[in-house]
Amino acid sequence: MPVITCIDDLKKLYERRVPRMFYDYAETGSWTQQTFRENTNDFSEIHFRQRVAVDMSGRSTKSTMIGQDVAMPVGLAPVGLTGMQCADGEIKAARAAEKFGVPFCLSTMSICSIEDVAENTQKPFWFQVYTLKDGDFMQRLFDRAKAAGCSAAIITVDLQVLGQRHKDLKNGLSAPPKLTAKSIANMMTKVQWGLGMLGTKRRFFGNIVGHAKGVTDPSSLSSWTAEAFDEALDWDRIREFRKMWDGPLIIKGIMDPRDAREALNVGADAIIVSNHGGRQLDGALSAIRALPEIVDAVGDKIEVHFDSGIRSGQDVLKALALGAHACYIGRAFTYGLGAMGQEGVTKALEIIHKELDVSMAFCGHQDVTKVDRDILLIPKDFTGDWA
Ligand code: GLV
Repeated sequence: MPVITCIDDLKKLYERRVPRMFYDYAETGSWTQQTFRENTNDFSEIHFRQRVAVDMSGRSTKSTMIGQDVAMPVGLAPVGLTGMQCADGEIKAARAAEKFGVPFCLSTMSICSIEDVAENTQKPFWFQVYTLKDGDFMQRLFDRAKAAGCSAAIITVDLQVLGQRHKDLKNGLSAPPKLTAKSIANMMTKVQWGLGMLGTKRRFFGNIVGHAKGVTDPSSLSSWTAEAFDEALDWDRIREFRKMWDGPLIIKGIMDPRDAREALNVGADAIIVSNHGGRQLDGALSAIRALPEIVDAVGDKIEVHFDSGIRSGQDVLKALALGAHACYIGRAFTYGLGAMGQEGVTKALEIIHKELDVSMAFCGHQDVTKVDRDILLIPKDFTGDWA
């Protein structure tokens, strides 16, 4: 077993242990992948101001997210197909998150169902919903999340249409996976993954199959997904969703201050600045470049959360210093899960936590809730003077 000291180590192990089609699903962005690349690369344009001889003892990374206590302001983002990266993946990731004291967000497109995750965890998790045409199904999703004790809902608003990911099309990605000679040959080399999958019944979209109209078995799923997403979505419709859920609500997928203001008007408790990990509009600004303008527009009225591009605790610290109240990791925990199951997700959280804690110390801070732009050196044109 290699010594794991950083997220990249987990990624290398993940690549070895998980079938290619699921690695590709997680690791690709849309079209040319410009935004996917810039999401991570743009972090390196921001630098820290190092301080010395400042009392760095008694540090705390504790914070809150929508009023809930967290061990650090970093949640596990909703990621589709997590239960294909590792058998029972959503349950394992949720358990790692609850032990660590950070939120786990279950995707609508998860393999383990809402009820399954609730039965196999102790603490409330958060549930993510897409904006679907079928209002009855949406209401049932919210009701199921409520019955399962979910303590927040996240509505993803940037998936009315799907950004094309070339590799998913070429690989014939689906759950359960399409078995071509090539994919079978590849899966046969992933012994640990295969044994896990043979040992579980959870191999298709547990929130959809048997719940959405016309989806009685996994084979009817692809026609459902082609039709399900609401291209006609507008803010009035999102207001209707707000009425379907009376708990804390987070709106995910905001990249423009005008949309941030709309989300505020809808009565969201938080927004997530996100370009869906570079998986939707290729050529969009990296999320970290979009963040400051949105914080300036609404940050004093609503919690602004951040995702897309975070691979280290230093990245978390930069986003927090730019005004994000909290962040999420998607790929970083997926690498851990595919590499080492629940233990790997814990490892990813520990790595990010340590990097955040020590970097905060170097910047002369003891309390993560107090960091601000003063710890950063930001190029003058970072957010750009875009025409
Ligand atoms: C779904 O949200 C995806 O990015 O695949």
